[in-house]
Amino acid sequence: MTDTATPVTVDGSGAPPARRRFLAWVSLGLASLAAAAVGVPVIGLLVAPLARPVGDRWHPVGPASRFRIGETVKVTFADTQSTPWSGRTAATAAWLRRVSDTEFTAFSLNCTHLGCPVRWVAGAKLFMCPCHGGVFYEDGAVAAGPPQRALTRYPVRVSQGTVQIQTSGLPIT
Ligand code: FES
Repeated sequence: MTDTATPVTVDGSGAPPARRRFLAWVSLGLASLAAAAVGVPVIGLLVAPLARPVGDRWHPVGPASRFRIGETVKVTFADTQSTPWSGRTAATAAWLRRVSDTEFTAFSLNCTHLGCPVRWVAGAKLFMCPCHGGVFYEDGAVAAGPPQRALTRYPVRVSQGTVQIQTSGLPIT
């Protein structure tokens, strides 16, 4: 009498070893494809902004008619170095002063000591830093405290009635 039963394999699955190896490779290949399909776009999203050159950019901050001569006001715009996932932190600001009908001056909000945001005190005509007592005159020059250099100035232009500020990477020393 001959034995016609299925041969029993080592793991008891009944599949021949070559077929199991083939299925294992197919599973591994499909898993790798799935990982690449998810991972490559995510890595690209994270790395692409780092490789993007950060050039100078003009930011519109409002119609020229909104600003009164002699006033210094805070204006907000999107940070040049922001990334798609920056969220609310992408918003930054500058101090803008209308000097005359056609002339504007803009200062960085960040103190040149360690980057804290300075505030404009109109009564004293000074920019004050809350962190270590840095003080700047209305033209941005250092008046007191640890900062070694004046507030950074941004180029300003008026284009088609809109005030624009040009910024680049934040120059903190
Ligand atoms: S960060 Fe402004 S004085 Fe230090």
